[in-house]
Amino acid sequence: MDRQYKLGIIGFGGMAFGHFKCHRDYDTNVKVKGVFDLDEHRMDVARENGLVAYKSREELLSDMEIDIVLVATTNEVHKEICIDALRHGKHVICEKPVTMDSQELLEVMAVAEETGKVFTIDQNRRTNRDFVLMKRNVEAGMIGKPYVIESRVEGSRGMPSGWRTIKRLGGGMMLDWGVHLIDQLMYMVDEKVISIYCKMFNIDYTDVEDNFRLTFTFESGLVAHIEVSTNNYITHPRWYVLGQNGTLQIDDWDCNGEICRCIDKESKWDEEIFQTAAGPTKTMAPRRPESVEHIKLSRPDDVEDGLQVVYRQLTGAIEGGELTIKPEQALRVMKVMEASFESAQKDITVKTNI
Ligand SMILES: NC(=O)c1ccc[n+]([C@@H]2O[C@H](COP(=O)([O-])OP(=O)(O)OC[C@H]3O[C@@H](n4cnc5c(N)ncnc54)[C@H](O)[C@@H]3O)[C@@H](O)[C@H]2O)c1
Repeated sequence: MDRQYKLGIIGFGGMAFGHFKCHRDYDTNVKVKGVFDLDEHRMDVARENGLVAYKSREELLSDMEIDIVLVATTNEVHKEICIDALRHGKHVICEKPVTMDSQELLEVMAVAEETGKVFTIDQNRRTNRDFVLMKRNVEAGMIGKPYVIESRVEGSRGMPSGWRTIKRLGGGMMLDWGVHLIDQLMYMVDEKVISIYCKMFNIDYTDVEDNFRLTFTFESGLVAHIEVSTNNYITHPRWYVLGQNGTLQIDDWDCNGEICRCIDKESKWDEEIFQTAAGPTKTMAPRRPESVEHIKLSRPDDVEDGLQVVYRQLTGAIEGGELTIKPEQALRVMKVMEASFESAQKDITVKTNI
C-alpha cells in the first residue's frame, strides 16, 4: 500500500476547506489530521469535521505525526509560517501567491534548501481543462505559429469583502488571479519575458486594483495579454489565440470553443472594392467560407483537474520524484508581477530578463 501522509493546516478558511474536502472525498494518500486558525469559529468548523483543533501553531508544528503543512492563511503571513514549518522539519505546500514579493520567496527557498524539505505552491490552475485544451491545440500546431495569446477572467460582482481589498494583507487582483494566469502562460512557454506593460484600475476599491490589463512579451516575440476584472457585465472569451494560420477561441471554463484554420490564404484580390454596411473596404472584405475549416472544441475528458493532482505531485517529490510546481517557477511569476506593479505605477514599459 502507498505511504500515507498526515497533513496539518494553518489557516482553515474557504480555500483550506477545499483542501480538506479533496482528501475527504478523493482517494488520496494524504489525510488531514488537524488545523490551527486564529478564528475560533473556524476551529469549531474543524472540530465539527472530526479534526484536531490545535491550541497554537507551535502545537501543530510540534506534532511529530504531521508530515506536511498546508499554509492557507492570508498572504502577508505566508513567508513567516512557511519558514516556521520548514524549520520544524515539515514538508510545506503554500497557497498562492506564495509570498508578498520575490525577496520574501527567496528567504523561504533558502530555508527549504537548508532543511532539505519539499516546498511547493498550490498553482492548481495548470490542470484546468480550458488551459490544457488551449495549450494542447496550440502546441500541436493547429493554428500555426502563435503570436498573441489572450487570457481573461472576468466577473461583475466586485471583490469579496475582507482581506482581498486590503493591500498590506496581500489583496488585489494581481496577487489573487493574476498569479494563476501568469503562471499558466510561463509554464506553457519556455522562454524569457523581456518586456512588461500593465494598466491597473481602482473602479470600486481604493487600496488595491480590482481590474488590470497586462501585456508581456516573450523573447521570440510572442505576446501574452492578460485581463482580470471584477466589474465586466459582458465578458470576452476565456482564451483568444492568434496564430499565423488560424485563430483559437475558448469561450468559458466548460471549454466551449472552436478553431478556425486557414485552408486557402485567398491572396488574390478582386479589382472591385467591397461594399459593407460601414462603407467600402478591400482589406476587410469577407473571405469565401470554403477557404477556412472550423473545428469545434469541447471539454477534454482525459484531463484530471483538481487538488488531488497537486498533492500527488507533492508526495511523489517527497518520495524522490521531480517536483512539478517548483519555487523557482513561482519566483519568475513573482518577478513578472513586481514588474507589472512598477509598470502600472510609473505608466512605463518595463524591460525585463525574467
Ligand atoms: N489556489 C486557489 O485556487 C485559491 C483560491 C482561493 C484562495 N486561495 C489562497 O488561499 C489563501 C486563503 O484564502 P481564503 O479564500 O481561504 O481566505 P479566508 O479568509 O477564507 O481564510 C484565511 C484564514 O486564515 C486565517 N489566518 C489568518 N492569519 C492567520 C495566522 N497567522 N495563523 C492562523 N490562521 C490565520 C484566517 O482566520 C482565515 O480563517 C490565500 O493565500 C488565497 O490567495 C487560493
